[in-house]
Amino acid sequence: MFDQRTYKERRKKLKASVKSGLILILGNEESPMNYTDNTFHYRQDSSFLYFFGINLPGLAGVIDIDSDKDYLYGDDFTIDDIVWRGFQPTIKEWAQKTGIQLTGTTLELIDLLQQAQKSGRKVHFLPPYRPENKIKLLKWLAVDPYAAQEAASVELIKAVVEQRSIKSPEEIEQIEEAVNISVDMHHAAMRMVRPGVTEAQVAAAVHQVAQASGGDISFPIIATIHGETLHNHYHGNTLKSGDLFLLDAGAENRMKYAGDLSSTMPVDPRFTERQKEIYNITLAAHEAAIAALKPGVKNKEVHLTACKALARGLKDIGLMKGDIEEAVSQGAHALFFPCGTGHMMGLDVHDMEDLGEVFVGYDGQPKSTQFGLKSLRLARELQPGFVITIEPGIYFIPQLIDRWREEKKFIDFIDYSKVEAYKDFGGIRNEEDFLITPEGYRLLGKPLAKTIEEVEAAKK
Ligand code: GLY
Ligand code: MN
Repeated sequence: MFDQRTYKERRKKLKASVKSGLILILGNEESPMNYTDNTFHYRQDSSFLYFFGINLPGLAGVIDIDSDKDYLYGDDFTIDDIVWRGFQPTIKEWAQKTGIQLTGTTLELIDLLQQAQKSGRKVHFLPPYRPENKIKLLKWLAVDPYAAQEAASVELIKAVVEQRSIKSPEEIEQIEEAVNISVDMHHAAMRMVRPGVTEAQVAAAVHQVAQASGGDISFPIIATIHGETLHNHYHGNTLKSGDLFLLDAGAENRMKYAGDLSSTMPVDPRFTERQKEIYNITLAAHEAAIAALKPGVKNKEVHLTACKALARGLKDIGLMKGDIEEAVSQGAHALFFPCGTGHMMGLDVHDMEDLGEVFVGYDGQPKSTQFGLKSLRLARELQPGFVITIEPGIYFIPQLIDRWREEKKFIDFIDYSKVEAYKDFGGIRNEEDFLITPEGYRLLGKPLAKTIEEVEAAKK
């Protein structure tokens, strides 16, 4: 945990922006995997961590704006809990660590919430994403679980997004630690990727680095020779000569801050000429996006800068044709890049995605519905203190190529006869994490091997 002053300050700021009512922040429960006592890896809710810092199931925090009082609610361990799960400080002791004097049991929390509701006070809560918390809201506040997202307080969502979007120096230190561990995960993979090794073996080695650091992974590892599938979590293949291997993996450090990096490497010691050509186009788009980073620029522009660089490179080798500005504005490049250039990162790898992309990435404005652009998670103006990823890629998805070719889609911009030869290519993505600074940007963490030469050298 940070010092209690951090959490007190954060709650004070939240009170000032929400103005009135009662704020309920639900922590997460243990979540059963196949029977009650066999649970998934425990992950606390990130907004609960941000405002209360306690990484323990079964808690809820209440911030009473009207009376300027903060409360921590939960039940002390019984002797049976201690026998099976070990000694645990009391709720009162936990509360002191986060700068709170007032505590209560879960039953007392229910009473407080129902009294507040009865007297017509507004109870603000965030959109619940776990069934356990949806059930609590149903039982405690009669919130329909199927309409719980819509019932959440927009005022609270906006205030939390505003606060969590700007990372403090102590948070940046934590994120940078997570990124450094993530770099070690990628370099471990580069050292072992060769013909005969399995995807599962690489994924296990990458996971080992994260876990040995005392933290864990920040999202399920993507370690695949089919990098054209954006979120490919299948690890059943054996690497063979001629394959490209894509790793998208990040660490979550002990304080639960995320890193998120992607790298692409040849299974052989060196890239082939064909691989180099596509790799360097991706890298040019990656560098063009980085060069565009500065406060006041919309991340949608950063994304379009990357798209145009990709399209120009693909035109140079004959896969695309025609006017590049027009091709990108119509979305023709999305055949090769059907997703976004990056996202916010912090306590969540896709930071605050549970609070709604429209608030986190779009300032409440509607998202585009165009294929490709609709998958951009962050479009709004960059501000100093934002931490974001840059991750353009080129993906040859055979089924998408066949579909568009059949539909004669964008035939003025795509040379399908040339694209046909790349249907066995796979995908390439590089990803790094950046802090937006008043002057522009700063790369977070130590450098990850990125150029052709660096990646080949890291494989030795
Ligand atoms: N690293 C996974 C993603 O950004 O979607
Ligand atoms: Mn990412």
